[in-house]
Amino acid sequence: MVIRELIAKGMALMEGIEYSNPHLESILLLSHLLKVDKNYIYLNGDEEVDIEVEEDFLRIINRRKEGYPLQYLLKEEEFMGLKFYLEEGVLIPRPETELLVDFIIKKINEDLITKEELIRAKGSRIKVLDLGVGSGAISLSIAKYCPQVFVYGVDISDKAIRIANINKERLGLENVQFFKGDLFKALEDNNIDEKFNIIASNPPYIRREDITSLQPEVRHEPVLALDGGLDGLDFYRRISKDAKDYLLADGILIYEIGYDQGQQVKDILSREGYRDIKILKDYSANDRIVYGIRGR
Ligand SMILES: C[S@@+](CC[C@H](N)C(=O)[O-])C[C@H]1O[C@@H](n2cnc3c(N)ncnc32)[C@H](O)[C@@H]1O
Repeated sequence: MVIRELIAKGMALMEGIEYSNPHLESILLLSHLLKVDKNYIYLNGDEEVDIEVEEDFLRIINRRKEGYPLQYLLKEEEFMGLKFYLEEGVLIPRPETELLVDFIIKKINEDLITKEELIRAKGSRIKVLDLGVGSGAISLSIAKYCPQVFVYGVDISDKAIRIANINKERLGLENVQFFKGDLFKALEDNNIDEKFNIIASNPPYIRREDITSLQPEVRHEPVLALDGGLDGLDFYRRISKDAKDYLLADGILIYEIGYDQGQQVKDILSREGYRDIKILKDYSANDRIVYGIRGR
């Protein structure tokens, strides 16, 4: 079969699956299998495809038909312009999380730079802690775009730590280190005695009873990355309470949140004594980020 016919067949097979884009996904999948870019597929429609590639393509499309996420089939996802290796068992990084990373990068480059110069004079550097690293998307993007920073990343899942380390290696980054364990306890267990300028987290935040009704694709993602307890807010309560002991003066605690959790997370931060608390919206005008400054 030639490229054009195979793409048409992929599209026909995927027709009608919820939450899919049959045309784009067929092109992405075939370009991945042929190890070429998307344009090659558009420009070489008459090229014959090897039977092995054709079989792989149809096998993968059939899994996609069952609602299995494309990113796990391709074993990668792009985030902040970087390619992240993925396996089932680790959360697929989402575009809305790029807002959190963007915001942190701006903070580091604009607000913290003068302070950083002061700190550097004493031989130190800006330190960021990412709680619940998953594939390493947040930690590694910050490390990549802010070389003046050292990022510590923590996750309770062995698999997440393994995948985050693969991505660290692939991106060739030295200014980041990952630790396995339960939130701040991972630091203690590894004898890390640091305080941070920024603590960031995109924690599990789905209400437990909502997990079974998530769209089919999300049901293939690890429950450990989704389950935020009965009201979805367990991690915000735990992290906000303990983070005060790990933040430097004027340090920032910043979260990604579910679209309907803005006010509740703001209240948690306020009860814990954080100041200048703000909620930021994503491009769909949903609340998506909450941050506050450590109180004195
Ligand atoms: C929503 S995912 C976020 C992954 C990644 N930061 C991202 O934005 O794509 C939450 C992550 O928190 C991790 N996690 C869950 N409970 C944890 C705990 N008690 N301590 C540390 N990490 C935890 C999960 O394994 C998962 O990787």
